[in-house]
Amino acid sequence: MNEVSIGRSELRSILITGATGGIGAELAKRYAKPGRILILWGRNTERLQQLSTFCCSKGAIVLPRQIDLTDGEAALAAFHEDDTQYPLDLIILGAGLSDIQPEGCATERPESALKLAQVNYATPVALATAAAERMIPREHGKISFIGSVAGYYELPFAPSYSSSKAGLARFAEAARLGWGPKNIQVTLIAPGFVDTPMSQRLEGDRPFLVPAEKAARLIMTAIAKNKREYIFPWPFRALRVWERLLPRIAREAILSKIDAKQK
Ligand SMILES: NC(=O)c1ccc[n+]([C@@H]2O[C@H](COP(=O)([O-])OP(=O)(O)OC[C@H]3O[C@@H](n4cnc5c(N)ncnc54)[C@H](OP(=O)(O)O)[C@@H]3O)[C@@H](O)[C@H]2O)c1
Repeated sequence: MNEVSIGRSELRSILITGATGGIGAELAKRYAKPGRILILWGRNTERLQQLSTFCCSKGAIVLPRQIDLTDGEAALAAFHEDDTQYPLDLIILGAGLSDIQPEGCATERPESALKLAQVNYATPVALATAAAERMIPREHGKISFIGSVAGYYELPFAPSYSSSKAGLARFAEAARLGWGPKNIQVTLIAPGFVDTPMSQRLEGDRPFLVPAEKAARLIMTAIAKNKREYIFPWPFRALRVWERLLPRIAREAILSKIDAKQK
């Protein structure tokens, strides 16, 4: 297949950050197909290697990259290198960290808060901007952020995580307004609980838990349909409608009573 025959909707080259994670790996496996270029970013070299082998066995051309997203400058340089080699049609910003205030502490650890802001917000925003800068002159491209339903709530036990995802959601919305008319599709994905190492670290219930394979399938459909925002599973979508009707005082009373612990 040559360049001329590739339609605008064809996703020929895809970059996934957090490809070594529960959701990212499932996305990579499902996107892998003959001739497609997958640029897979993660930190864990062993998981990157295993995933690359699997995606190659499905016929994809795979470029794994071991990278730490706390270094935003390095991430930008890597992005420019990858996009120069294989102009990207889709970038999925999936890498993320979660943290919960340690038991008995009045705050989160400041070092964790800094790292979380870099990995969950600062670097994805910089990468999305770099992607749009390259995609706009090409007149097409898709940028997808993996946020969280946590971004819609002021979680007192996880202010860094919830605010990083809130920031990402606001950025995605602004970017969609700015870049949409230039033919860049921006999608914000906001999952509830997905069965991955991230949520497995939580103690207690994970209501409406979604398997990672199903999450990947839902995310791919939302991206294919150019959804503006996709919240899943559905009870969290319903909650989003219902909670908007709550007076602020009731909302704060409920949120301040929620507690969570991690292993
Ligand atoms: N699981 C859930 O319930 C849930 C719910 C809502 C939203 N999300 C969001 O979904 C996304 C994927 O999470 P997941 O559930 O798949 O979690 P996960 O299995 O823990 O995967 C997290 C991914 O982020 C990468 N990552 C973490 N810190 C990094 C850093 N400093 N530099 C580069 N990469 C880094 C990890 O890389 P290595 O493993 O190679 O270190 C891994 O690939 C995250 O943005 C998360 O916030 C998850």
